[in-house]
Amino acid sequence: MSSRMYKPTDHVIKKSYLPSIQKYKEMYERSLTESELFWTEVAQEFQWHVAPKPGGFMKYNFDITKGRVFVKFMEEAELNVCYNLLDRNVKNGFGDKIAFFWEGNSPDDYTRITYRKLLDLVCQFANGLLAKGIRKGDRVAVYMPMILEAVICMLACARIGAVHTVVFAGFSSDALAERLSDAKAKLLVTADGAWRGERMYVYKRTCDDAIEKARTFFKHRVDMCMVVNHLDRVTPGGSLKSEIKDLYNWNEETDIWWHEVLEGESNICPPEWVAAEDPLFVLYTSGSTGKPKGVVHTTAGYLMYAAATFRYVFDYHRRDVYWCTADVGWITGHTYVVYAPLANAATSVMFEGTPYFPKVDRYWSIINKYKVTQFYTAPTAIRALMAHYNVEDGNLTMPDLSSLRVLGSVGEPINPAAWLWYYTRIGKERCSIVDTFWQTETGGHVITGLPGATPMKPGAAEKKHPVYYSSMDTFRPKQGWDRTVMIVHLPNKSNRTRGFPFFGVEPKILNEDGVEIEGPGEGYLVFARPWPGMMRTLLEDQDRFERVYFSKFPGYYCTGDGVRRDEDGYLWITGRIDDMLNVSGHLMSTAEVEGVLASDPRVSEAAVVPKPHEVKGEALYCFVVLKEGLQFDADLVKTLTLLVRQKIGAFAAPDTIQNAPGLPKTRSGKIMRRILRKIAVGDHEVGDISTLADPGVVEELFNNRPAEAKPKTG
Ligand code: WTA
Repeated sequence: MSSRMYKPTDHVIKKSYLPSIQKYKEMYERSLTESELFWTEVAQEFQWHVAPKPGGFMKYNFDITKGRVFVKFMEEAELNVCYNLLDRNVKNGFGDKIAFFWEGNSPDDYTRITYRKLLDLVCQFANGLLAKGIRKGDRVAVYMPMILEAVICMLACARIGAVHTVVFAGFSSDALAERLSDAKAKLLVTADGAWRGERMYVYKRTCDDAIEKARTFFKHRVDMCMVVNHLDRVTPGGSLKSEIKDLYNWNEETDIWWHEVLEGESNICPPEWVAAEDPLFVLYTSGSTGKPKGVVHTTAGYLMYAAATFRYVFDYHRRDVYWCTADVGWITGHTYVVYAPLANAATSVMFEGTPYFPKVDRYWSIINKYKVTQFYTAPTAIRALMAHYNVEDGNLTMPDLSSLRVLGSVGEPINPAAWLWYYTRIGKERCSIVDTFWQTETGGHVITGLPGATPMKPGAAEKKHPVYYSSMDTFRPKQGWDRTVMIVHLPNKSNRTRGFPFFGVEPKILNEDGVEIEGPGEGYLVFARPWPGMMRTLLEDQDRFERVYFSKFPGYYCTGDGVRRDEDGYLWITGRIDDMLNVSGHLMSTAEVEGVLASDPRVSEAAVVPKPHEVKGEALYCFVVLKEGLQFDADLVKTLTLLVRQKIGAFAAPDTIQNAPGLPKTRSGKIMRRILRKIAVGDHEVGDISTLADPGVVEELFNNRPAEAKPKTG
């Protein structure tokens, strides 16, 4: 039995580019059968120095048994991304249109920038980079808070053909040093610091340490560090303990202020025309071996794909105000804060602060202030915010959010309770939710809902457990499933895999033996052909690129995620293949259990990991975060256990439910299950926890382990 379907409302449909499933189907079909024509139409909106030539738009090899893997798109064309984002829009009459509303950490700090002004500043900074000897192909590392200079810097690099590598400004100096060295960055651009909530972060100090560590540990020298003088111009979020300038070092030989780089520079800077397949940026993503992977994205394909996904997935129209809460340090920030909105001449909000400062209504008050029409955030944020409101009483006091039309979700499965809350309380049951599945590697959305076309399903929690599919006989991953979430669907009459793949994307479900699963079933999510926005290689590691993504199933790009197709043809991403569990031979998605736990009104968030078990192989170990002020007791454990037994089955009953004050999350909000698995077994060798938003939570979780879970001593 399927969970309830929610149809797009008139509020959404009347504006939509794709107002029906039929329209989507036609376009999708065309994107596969007449791929060249399809992308030519997209390309026509852009300015080319050398236009793409007909014939052989997409050249590729996905099959490692036939030679090296490669993807080339519009290979002989030449263009400049920055020119297309700024000059082209100014020429098209959008010079006075606001590109960004910038909202600072303090509600007292805000500004706006038009397309024309952005172009001026980008050119000035690009000239500054050139004056300092940065040239096409040079790598520029960026370690910045959410300020306009981060965008300006990325675009200035694109303008001169330099390759930026943004490192999320929450990474430690060790992590930054490793990335600086791996990318062989010549220059590091940063800010003195920034406030997030009541905490001040001194980025320049982290950069000082990282540059030093890069030199001593990796023998890599960063020639220069450019620093935005940001702290002086904003309202402090708390009290300053010392003079700002005393917080970091200043090296006269290598450090230079951003405003000094701009001094005397012209606001005219001719773009460097680059080849379609020249690199645009490198972005590091974590790899299972621990060494980060430098994902390389190139120019034309990335731009076309970012632009097209933004337009259709968010249904962006000229007067809309769009807001993506992601940090520029992640792929979501690259594609959907910077490149895609600007490619569509969009007006966006860029927010420096946190959802909780000065109060927990900050997100909603920003939506209200700028009359945001598209809001794109992560389930973790939704769950965290939900916890501050009483879901039951219906008396949520929120500002007017009626400007909203499309709500986006990204990064992890969204559990049914969070989905429903988002849909009801934020979207007021009239907005479409687009659950966008993609990866750093995919460059843009690959499987997603479309606002006007896709009937939505909130999640899988009400369903029977998904392991009862015949495909289980052939699909045998080493462990069980991690998590299940609703993604998207296409009523699947033809039995072909297409759960709302974006245009040009051809997903398949394969079993362990590489045999395609048609109809309901679960297996590995792979893609049978390239799309323009996908990664091209790993920085200086083509071998690893082929090994990680193409060796398991020759001929396919392997996402590393599991997927399940239900009876209605919906595709549900079940999570990373490496984060799964298997209880008594039952493949299990932890997300499903998490969804059930989180459906209890007292629970704010839950995470489930496998714990080795003598009889069952693995057992469920659950971490439960309660809503503020609520008491964790034996009664609650009993109720939750019963709830899981009821909703899924006795075999899924948790062995342990532990009270968690919080969960170990990266600063981008990803739960680090590796650490939870260690806590579950009482193993204090948790490894590196420096990338956690709050490393202190780990010790608290160890202390909170229930008595029976503690290792026996003596
Ligand atoms: C997961 C983030 C379920 C998935 C854009 C993927 C999701 C990994 C979703 C990539 C979603 C991302 N539903 N899972 N809507 N979006 N994921 O590289 O496991 O930071 O492989 O890119 O996040 O994470 P990354």
